[in-house]
Amino acid sequence: AAIVEHTFNVQNLTVNRLCQNRVITAVNGQLPGPTLLIQEGDTLVIHVNNNSPYNITIHWHGIFQKLTAWADGPDYVTQCPIRPGRSYTYRFTVTGQEGTLWWHAHVSFLRSTVYGALIIRPRSGRSYPFQQPDGEYPIVLGEWWNANVVDVANQAQASGGAPNNSDAFTINGQPGDLFPCSSGSTTRINVKQGRTYLLRIVNAALNSQHFFKIANHKLTVVAVDAAYTNPYVTDVVVIAPGQTTDVLLTADQKPGLYYMAARPYASAPVSADNSTTTAILAYQGASTAPTLVMPVLPALNDTPTAHKFYTNLTGLVTSPFWTGVPTEVDKHMFITVGLGLIPCRNNSCAGPNGQRFAANMNNASFQLPTKMSILQAFFQNVNGIYTTDFPRQPPVKFDYTNTGLSGNPNLIFTTKSTKVIKLKYNTTIEIVLQNTAILTTENHPIHLHGFNFFVLAQGFGNYKASRDSKKFNLVNPQERNTIGVPVGGWAVIRFQANNPGVWFMHCHLDQHLPWGLATAFVVENGPTPSTTLPPPPHDFPTC
Ligand code: C2O
Repeated sequence: AAIVEHTFNVQNLTVNRLCQNRVITAVNGQLPGPTLLIQEGDTLVIHVNNNSPYNITIHWHGIFQKLTAWADGPDYVTQCPIRPGRSYTYRFTVTGQEGTLWWHAHVSFLRSTVYGALIIRPRSGRSYPFQQPDGEYPIVLGEWWNANVVDVANQAQASGGAPNNSDAFTINGQPGDLFPCSSGSTTRINVKQGRTYLLRIVNAALNSQHFFKIANHKLTVVAVDAAYTNPYVTDVVVIAPGQTTDVLLTADQKPGLYYMAARPYASAPVSADNSTTTAILAYQGASTAPTLVMPVLPALNDTPTAHKFYTNLTGLVTSPFWTGVPTEVDKHMFITVGLGLIPCRNNSCAGPNGQRFAANMNNASFQLPTKMSILQAFFQNVNGIYTTDFPRQPPVKFDYTNTGLSGNPNLIFTTKSTKVIKLKYNTTIEIVLQNTAILTTENHPIHLHGFNFFVLAQGFGNYKASRDSKKFNLVNPQERNTIGVPVGGWAVIRFQANNPGVWFMHCHLDQHLPWGLATAFVVENGPTPSTTLPPPPHDFPTC
């Protein structure tokens, strides 16, 4: 195993998108940022120098961070931000997972330009549990605002309303041919007829799930969230922010140019940006003036297609990293996820009914601390930063699928607090995530830091244990770090809390995060030195 060292200079970068020059925050002058390529077992050492005008942290999305919680990155959860002019070195070893993950800023909306792929290949002497591809390409889906993204986030926070819609979606940083002034720089993926390629698809968009297709080509899913799956052949990939999907693509069509395209899966009946981002799959030997073939993407609200894709994936039990589903459950929780409101203080709030938007889990709307991170407070036994009284279930039981402000008065108004879930080391926990419909219902991609979980089942309506627990797949469920909880529905996840630290769990639609759709797990140390979190590194940023 190697030590792989990188320096990330976070700085202003001027780029031209959608006919305008814009100053963005980016890493090493690249958009997307550098692709990190390692082998399973390697140690990554990344020196982050913050030469930008903003507070920065970097999160290594999906990395287990075994005994390195100090390197996980979410601001005020594990660390205080790296202030402008300061540096911090993230150091962690990547074991027990292979495939595609990614890294991104975990402050404000900065991940819209501060992100990149993190690819974990098998260690020397091991190979993929599928046909060795002839080539590999990261396909990173992104989201672009013409405005400064920190301003977009701050304005939404100040008004209590929703942030402005983005101006484009992107593939590897480029909007593609359907956007103004963009066709000269559309992303191209070069292939040779008859060869097979591994496409490592990441959804780094902020507020939108995506359908992804390549004209005339089938895709074979072989991994999601850096966990191998049984091969699943499909013509459409559905991918939520935070998720990754590795697919094999065989260039089996006649030499030509084919569009790959992505646009939102917008589960909520709201106005959604329906612009389609494209890239070009270019066969060697295609004629110089070919006609481009465009795939037909599902309708924006095509929930049946999304559900079919999400539920057809299963875990690969022959993977060297397959742990099996823990059978004994130590702790059961029922957690509602959804939007709500908080009262407006000055009568001019831009949310529904003149209130402020909020979001909550079990009616607790998560507020980040400001004085120190939760992880520091846990490690140093500091009181007053968080409380451990996150409710085990929602305060009232009701019809979670019944939309309407009047229907569910007890869950409309939430209070802000920093309530976490405390777990003893090695606790096996099973959580029913139940979507609510208090304001609107939509598919919420819930991401857990520090662990993969098994997705035992998912469905629509109100979860009912006596009926729905019979549907649990305990044999070969998919493993994920981000699960799209079905619109008007539920998902059941299970994992073993075998890593001491503080692990954020939140909606990966970035507009829901400042509204409070989050909580955190505080996992206590185990009984031995090898199950105890070591002290923070000496350059650890303080507040
Ligand atoms: Cu990719 Cu806390 O997020």
